[in-house]
Amino acid sequence: MRAHQTAAATPAYSRRCILKTGAGGASVLFAGGCDLIMPDIAEARAPWEAAGESFGDPRLDALAYAVLAPNPHNRQPWTIELRGEDEILVRADPERLLPETDPFNRQIVIGFGCFHELLRQAAAERGFALDTDVFPEGDPQPLLDDRPIFHARFRRQADIQKDPLFGYALDRRTNRAPFADRPVDAEALNRLDAALRPEDGEFEWANDEANIAALKDICGRAWRIEANAEGPHGETTDVTRIGRREVVAAPDGISLYGRDIEAFRLGRVLTRDSLREIGSRAHREMVSFYERAIDTAAAFGWLTTDPNDRADQFRAGAGWVRLNLAATREGVAMHPLSQALQEFPEMAGPYAEVHDFVAAGKSACVQGLFRFGYAPPQPAAPRWPVRSRIIAA
Ligand SMILES: Cc1cc2nc3c(=O)[nH]c(=O)nc-3n(C[C@H](O)[C@H](O)[C@H](O)COP(=O)(O)O)c2cc1C
Repeated sequence: MRAHQTAAATPAYSRRCILKTGAGGASVLFAGGCDLIMPDIAEARAPWEAAGESFGDPRLDALAYAVLAPNPHNRQPWTIELRGEDEILVRADPERLLPETDPFNRQIVIGFGCFHELLRQAAAERGFALDTDVFPEGDPQPLLDDRPIFHARFRRQADIQKDPLFGYALDRRTNRAPFADRPVDAEALNRLDAALRPEDGEFEWANDEANIAALKDICGRAWRIEANAEGPHGETTDVTRIGRREVVAAPDGISLYGRDIEAFRLGRVLTRDSLREIGSRAHREMVSFYERAIDTAAAFGWLTTDPNDRADQFRAGAGWVRLNLAATREGVAMHPLSQALQEFPEMAGPYAEVHDFVAAGKSACVQGLFRFGYAPPQPAAPRWPVRSRIIAA
């Protein structure tokens, strides 16, 4: 483990109010005062309110939390079949994959691992254990197909152990705000590490200046490659929801909303076409928003597995959401920077660099790379309601 602590820096965070951040790998930021009226997207956030209600079926009660899982570009690629009285079968929706930015569906499978871990924790809260088979019909390789991702049976268990991390499920966020100029100390990062179980993958971190600078450099270059690569950038643009109406109509993907977004949308500065156009004002804003996010990293952490088969990707998802929940508990903001881990050809350089850097001499696959720091809490990202993800058997 790299565990060098930086000398204590004076907190020098200027209180800015982030009016809106999108979901997923890219967003547009227009910062301003805190007193502006936000367009209401409460409808798109309703699933966060619904979690905790009783749906009259313990499977739905637990699934209402699972659909709040972190997942790439917030595509929410799950389709859920309820079977009999106590079983569920979960598959990937082929329309919700990300073939450009995630050509081998590695990140999508991680999202399913996050989903399952929240499902497991929520079921335990209500006294149910899950008997889960991951990829019960075999590993879909090199691409996901219509075989199930997992099958789970809910089994009542009187003495089931509840997971203390579950208490943070509704406050967990992916935080893309600029982070304060305040170090994240080793104790906090070690407590994140302690939240992982042996099967969740290996977590390491760096909070010293030299390692932070090196990782910012790789992440910055990787981000510019993604933002300027036609296919990946086009895919991101396709799943971007611009303005309240689009966000509420399709509460997934990358959501851009807020007073200024509406103004830029109406002024035609921000449209899907302008965002798609590399070098346009909207595109430049997007690039610099994310560059600033990378630049304000106060620590980095990474989650690896060895090897990297489908089950490893799935278990890394459990590790991912456990880290995110533990960070929430610690008051530490967590933001994945996945660009350098993407497997499209233009990313080969940063992909090799990041693996050489953080997993030098090992054959491990870096499943997640995160920046950590301190930032104001962010609003919950849109979600489809749980019932809308249930398909007929
Ligand atoms: C495998 C994986 C990769 C992700 N990569 C990124 C990323 O590179 N940049 C980013 O801003 N968010 C990334 N995210 C976060 C998702 O965009 C986020 O989970 C989703 O938008 C929902 O938001 P929430 O986590 O706040 O609920 C990733 C999530 C997962 C599971």
